[in-house]
Amino acid sequence: MSNKVQVGISINGKKVQKQVESRLLLTDFIRDECNLTGTHLGCEHGVCGACTILLDNEPVRGCLMFAVQADGCEIQTVESLNHVDGTLNVLQQSFSDNHALQCGFCTPGFLMTLTHFLKDNQNPTENEIREAISGNLCRCTGYANIIKAVQQASQILQKENSNCSVVSAQ
Ligand code: FES
Ligand code: FES
Repeated sequence: MSNKVQVGISINGKKVQKQVESRLLLTDFIRDECNLTGTHLGCEHGVCGACTILLDNEPVRGCLMFAVQADGCEIQTVESLNHVDGTLNVLQQSFSDNHALQCGFCTPGFLMTLTHFLKDNQNPTENEIREAISGNLCRCTGYANIIKAVQQASQILQKENSNCSVVSAQ
């Protein structure tokens, strides 16, 4: 008897319907069934944060969920971040500008955690940034450059937002 079940998940704005094993991890669904290999697997037990994605706009660890649990949900992976013309978004560019990665394995998880964080807090203190990334492990960089990258991104985003509110107030 097959253990396959039908799931329908919106990934980066595209609806994906598949028959999957009920035990299939969400990360394996994303990487193997959807070919979105930007979501990385490090520890596979919820410790490193490399597999962080946004599920209904909340950061979650894909390695701690089954694909069937995401049925009917909306997911964003790191592939959703860059602009349609392929250029990097503000946070990605800030990581690049500040050398906030070496091997880059942890970077997708950091970017997704911080995408959510910067939506809620556009003017974070260093301590708030440290706390926000405390669930993501990096074995290469130390965290100083990642913190600098977030500070740069938050300054740019604040400026962009204040320009928008000036335009909309006119
Ligand atoms: S791979 Fe999911 S937390 Fe490490
Ligand atoms: S840049 Fe290598 S693990 Fe973070």
